[in-house]
Amino acid sequence: MNICMVGMGYVGLVAGTGLADFGMNVICVDNDTEKVETLKRGDVPIYEIGLAELIRRNMAQDRLHFSADLGDAIDKSLVVFIAVGTPEAEDGKVDLGYFRQLGVEIGRAMKEYKVIAIKSTVPVGSAKLLEKIIRENQTSEVEFDVVSNPEFLREGSAVQDFTHPDRVILGTSSARALAIMKDIYRPLYLLETPIVTTTNETAELIKYASNTMLALRISFINEIANLCDKVGADVYDVARAIGKDKRIGPKFLHPGPGFGGSCFPKDVNAINWLAKENNYNFRLAKAIMEINEQQKRSVVERAEGFFGKLQGKKVALLGLAFKQNTDDIREAPALTVIERLKEARAEISVYDPIAMKSARKVLSDVRFCKDSFEACCDAHLAIVVTEWNEFRNLNLADIKAVMAEPCIFDTRDIYDLNQLRELGFSYLTIGRGSYKAEK
Ligand code: UDX
Repeated sequence: MNICMVGMGYVGLVAGTGLADFGMNVICVDNDTEKVETLKRGDVPIYEIGLAELIRRNMAQDRLHFSADLGDAIDKSLVVFIAVGTPEAEDGKVDLGYFRQLGVEIGRAMKEYKVIAIKSTVPVGSAKLLEKIIRENQTSEVEFDVVSNPEFLREGSAVQDFTHPDRVILGTSSARALAIMKDIYRPLYLLETPIVTTTNETAELIKYASNTMLALRISFINEIANLCDKVGADVYDVARAIGKDKRIGPKFLHPGPGFGGSCFPKDVNAINWLAKENNYNFRLAKAIMEINEQQKRSVVERAEGFFGKLQGKKVALLGLAFKQNTDDIREAPALTVIERLKEARAEISVYDPIAMKSARKVLSDVRFCKDSFEACCDAHLAIVVTEWNEFRNLNLADIKAVMAEPCIFDTRDIYDLNQLRELGFSYLTIGRGSYKAEK
């Protein structure tokens, strides 16, 4: 089957490549010609484990193509997937500018029956809106169906998530479109992946409900971690124990400096906006975001509360990406930590194994270092903000030797606290207590 994927962001690139790997002939389209040329050469503009190899393999097998010619791609495809960005506008509102524009172009280009499958995360009602836009822009009346097919892949494990999803959501009222979409996802039948078929509106809401639920778990465990610090309990034991209850489960219960990334903050704000638009007061969504903002901001407050004022002190930040295995720093807790450190008038040095390039584009007044040692050199405090394995494997005795004071704030619980203690570090954690080494 010939299909096209419009929008070569994270979701589009991974999904387009994944569908080629399922055996489809895929044209990936983007209006950024430079990006298209890069991809045609077999170079990958984002850091994602396993993606470059998958792209090259499917290109070599002639199933995966890149193009900036949308009209031609639509002409050649039975299914047009939409994976353009839907960024946050003010008050959590979703900016549907690219999405609407694409609707206009699809309408104009359409000459025969097509399925339009929406992968972009869009507010409830967007499938209907797209249908209207396409119809209004058709030069002659052509039949088509719109399917809402939200994507749940995570950065850092995107390829695995796409090829082994927990479920596939297909929202449509058309039996014809449903049969075509089921055909596309046929390789997943072998894995017995559940296919949830529903209406467009329900499919649209499922995506927001999933992300809100996951964000809720993180804000919940962060609240428990903060309470643990007050009462002297260990949040990791709490998380492990409650996670054994099958009704709760163990995942997404890692406390830390708050969630970031391109999805959770945007989508929780969007569900709140959607609720408001529909005269519903979604109190939980607001609480999730309030807790998260406070969690991100509290890192420097906690550090100052325990280690003392940071004015004039050198602070090393280990990790900038919003989580490990990505070069993405959008909404990353590290950005808030840096902002607060500047307000506290600390001297800041930073290091991240992969995200330095993205960080250089947005950060100023920080010292960019080539590795953890350079960042920690003469530092009075090291704050671990991202849980990279590279930081887990650091030789802490060597790190201690180059620091001005052996102080670590491990916001991600990557270190063995006994080891830190034995090495003579003072440490602070989120939800596992703190320790002051004797001088
Ligand atoms: C998320 C959803 O998981 C995915 O289904 C959706 O398609 C896009 O949004 P992503 O943003 O790539 O994916 O990363 P994810 O692994 O979910 O982590 C998001 C944030 O939550 C990160 O900042 C991470 O550090 C934080 N997090 C996650 C925690 O603080 N604790 C946890 O237990 C899990």
